[in-house]
Amino acid sequence: MEVKFTGIEEKLAQLERWRAKIRAGGGPKRVAKQHESGKKTARERLDLLLDPGSFVEVDLFAGDEDIEHLTNPGEGVVTGYGTIDGRKVYVFAQDFTVSGGSLSRVHAAKICKVMDLAMKVGAPVIGLNDSGGARIQEGVDALDGYGQIFFRNTIASGVIPQVSAILGPCAGGAVYSPALTDFVFMVSGIGQMFITGPQVIKATTGEDITMEALGGAVTHNQVSGVAHFLAHSEEECFYQIRRLLSFLPSNNMEEPPLAPPQDPAGDPQQLLHIIPDDPNKGYDVRDIIRLLVDGGDLFEVHQYYARNAVVGFARLAGRPVGIVANQPNHLAGCLDINASDKISRFVRFCDCFNIPLVTFMDVPGFLPGTAQEFGGIIRHGAKMLYAYSEATVPKITIILRKAYGGAYLAMCASALRADTVLAWPTAEIAVMGPEGAVNIIYRREISEAENPEAMRAKLTQEYRERFANPYVACSRGYVDDVIDPRDTRERIINSLEFLADKQEGRPRKKHGNMPV
Ligand code: HXC
Repeated sequence: MEVKFTGIEEKLAQLERWRAKIRAGGGPKRVAKQHESGKKTARERLDLLLDPGSFVEVDLFAGDEDIEHLTNPGEGVVTGYGTIDGRKVYVFAQDFTVSGGSLSRVHAAKICKVMDLAMKVGAPVIGLNDSGGARIQEGVDALDGYGQIFFRNTIASGVIPQVSAILGPCAGGAVYSPALTDFVFMVSGIGQMFITGPQVIKATTGEDITMEALGGAVTHNQVSGVAHFLAHSEEECFYQIRRLLSFLPSNNMEEPPLAPPQDPAGDPQQLLHIIPDDPNKGYDVRDIIRLLVDGGDLFEVHQYYARNAVVGFARLAGRPVGIVANQPNHLAGCLDINASDKISRFVRFCDCFNIPLVTFMDVPGFLPGTAQEFGGIIRHGAKMLYAYSEATVPKITIILRKAYGGAYLAMCASALRADTVLAWPTAEIAVMGPEGAVNIIYRREISEAENPEAMRAKLTQEYRERFANPYVACSRGYVDDVIDPRDTRERIINSLEFLADKQEGRPRKKHGNMPV
């Protein structure tokens, strides 16, 4: 029999045909269904996320060797690398048009390969999730695949930034890989996360709930805190991811990227008029932050969750910083369970990635009540003490107004090794607020007074004058200086410059045991 050899042209034609076949994913019908449900395909998503033309695919041919008769082209995930603003990132995008983006052994292996490459190179990993979960037909192989990813998420934590976008269903154990990453972005209307779906919930607890109400973007951004960012479209989500990365170094050995310095938005004179004279009145702390940071630009993390605290990224003279602040407009800025979780996770992220922390304090205390006590405010609040104590990045604290009790310490007081502590003349630093303190320490005097109310008012005023100011703390060295609010930006920038080469060691250990 005559042996037939194929020439290079024929081989190239075959390569192109096979490539096109795999790139077509689940085919035109399923792509149309994906579009009808308001979602983009995996490849469209990568094109929108990455710098144009920068995507390089890895493992296009992974999966079944019989390419002519593929049932799962690409195994339901597109993996590779590219750039965002010219900086390297590794990516995977689950392809819902192929077996619902379900995770098979090969699908998991493709994701693991890009995660391993990202670790070797020191570049962020971004996962675009849109999947029906474990590929049911593959059984334990799919479960092991998830385990392989979870392990890598954990080992990569604190080494490279890890970002997840939820752009479709994300059910069962599949939610745990995103939960192990640093930031979760969700698009409302299309992304959902839950451990058990509405049908199982109905069968077990009798509750009736829709997928969106159970695990949609609003639920996880506002109620559970599982998600950090909410977008109304995929385009907005990719813009947010690109923006987030602009503040971050590519890995824990790098410094965050510098940007050209910009003036803040607004006249610093306004800083004198944001905090009301009445100490019981609230205000929006973001109005102060915007008058201090470059371009007035604060990129809030967890914007809709635990709104009694504000955390986010900003720049000062071009240098990225992590901002943490109490929000007096919400729950009077008290710290509660959710705010403690929000702040401590953010502080730890910044510390992992060499981002200095600037903390604005106006905190009346931890939120009282049985709901908080029974919910474990003690161990949640302790996370803040732990996270700030553990952090060795430059730590600058500005006391704007109230700084009471344990919450004063938890917001990075000097005892937790803040490097710079500055107070505005409006600062009140004490064990507790004047009203509460007077009721305890002068109970007898007040009850025995001819006019208890007048006596309480007099003692409260005396207490306020004696303790509710920054000068006692200054006299002990707990606060470095009392400053004119208009000098705040300059003082923080100066501090950041001096602290840029800060070195602070900690004892050698395997790892600490943070309260969780
Ligand atoms: C295999 C799956 C699949 C899965 C979906 N498909 N999920 N194939 N394994 N897990 C397939 C469907 O058969 C269908 O194939 C295609 O994907 C699209 O699915 P539809 O159901 O038509 O889409 P839709 O109506 O949009 O519903 C999407 C869905 C639903 C809500 C995700 O498919 C669903 O409930 N899937 C199962 C979810 C689930 O229970 N997964 C296991 C979770 S447990 P065709 O060929 O018709 O296009 C888990 C354990 C992980 O993940 C543990 C880790 C520790």
